[in-house]
Amino acid sequence: MSSSFPTPKGVSEYVPPRADLFYAIRAAFAEQARLAGYGYLELAVFEDTNLFRRGVGESTDVVSKEMYTFEDRGGRSLTLRPEFTAGVLRSVLANGLHKQGALPVKVWTTGPAFRAERPQQGRYRQFYQLDLEAIGSDDPRVDAETIAIASRWYRSLGLTQIRLMLNSLGCRECRPAYRALLQEFLRGLDLDEPTRERIEINPLRVLDDKRPEVREQVAKAPLMADHLCDACQAHHDRVRELLADLGIEWEDSPTLVRGLDYYTRTTYEFEHPLLGAQSAIGGGGRYDGLSEDIGGPALPGIGFGLGLDRTILALEAEGTGFAAAPRCEVFGVALGEPAERRLFTMIDELRGAGVAADMAYGGKKLKGAMKDADRSGARYALILGERDIAAGSVQLKDLAGGDQTAVPLTELTATLKERLSR
Ligand code: HAM
Repeated sequence: MSSSFPTPKGVSEYVPPRADLFYAIRAAFAEQARLAGYGYLELAVFEDTNLFRRGVGESTDVVSKEMYTFEDRGGRSLTLRPEFTAGVLRSVLANGLHKQGALPVKVWTTGPAFRAERPQQGRYRQFYQLDLEAIGSDDPRVDAETIAIASRWYRSLGLTQIRLMLNSLGCRECRPAYRALLQEFLRGLDLDEPTRERIEINPLRVLDDKRPEVREQVAKAPLMADHLCDACQAHHDRVRELLADLGIEWEDSPTLVRGLDYYTRTTYEFEHPLLGAQSAIGGGGRYDGLSEDIGGPALPGIGFGLGLDRTILALEAEGTGFAAAPRCEVFGVALGEPAERRLFTMIDELRGAGVAADMAYGGKKLKGAMKDADRSGARYALILGERDIAAGSVQLKDLAGGDQTAVPLTELTATLKERLSR
């Protein structure tokens, strides 16, 4: 029987063995981030509510409808982070990282984020992201670098069906004129009231509407891509050249707008075709004005957030075979009290030598202990009885093949390491 408390609604919890996979894909990302020179940041889980209002933007669904906001005992309004970028930038500025070394400041972080959305497969209220940011450079190479890091991580997991959608959202010079042009176009369409309101608040989001009747009408809408200023066009062309140099495939997606207000210039999204309605597996882009928006100096930045929950779903859907390192390679089975005592130290020694090892507890008889060995997922059982101790050896049983051999105790670690590496 479970307790009288269910798991909170919309929380994606991970328990073993799935959580081992969750941890392993995070570790694989940590390695990619390290190889590209990104330092790890452990970030606040809640922030001053105004950071998200000013940073992410009042007109976004995330801020206007989905934030978990509460008042603390001192009467301050705090919000559980709905995303990482605003908090990462706040932390970089608060800790003066932008003054300490060469720019860009390169950092990554991970953990839960919170959005009060309607939960469904792939969409949760507490979900997990890998977030990586490069702050303080407007070099298009940094844009391409972030994309390359994410792509290499997806590839390292064995995912082959990910598509990269790319767009430019222009800058604070060229976007206002385009925005006005788009509004004029959209006001002439036959749209429902909420969509009409959206035209006034956040017209670019209308381009992102998934409903066929809306899609059909906006198909002829003016596109940002055709109204970029010269500097934004040059930046965008350069990013595409660099991606081509790196051998990264992408699709130009002129209606990709992203749901957060801080984006400028390069925006991108990784999609996975097997994830249904929640196909956005990761997304990112440039935010060249965000630092000033939150009261900091001019510091252009770019980064991404990759959804860990959706990445796990994609791995399961593709069946890539990517797996966490086994939690148990060798399982000890002791026959009688003296053997149990000896085996306990042997298991500990194996762990010290880097072999994942476990054993049956609770004085189990042979049959019960062998059942535990099978359940453990181990490749080998290590069976020790009094006669083995006397002979200075232990029985090594291949749990899949069934054959069993006596191995001298002095050679056990070397024998096991050799066999496990086969
Ligand atoms: P985002 O597109 O809002 O961007 O989120 C990034 C990824 O987080 C999404 O592509 C998706 O995989 C995952 N995600 C978002 N909401 C949920 C949810 N409710 N349940 C499960 N997964 C979800 C950002 O958050 C930006 N801060 C990314 C960024 C970093 N841009 C620049 N730097």
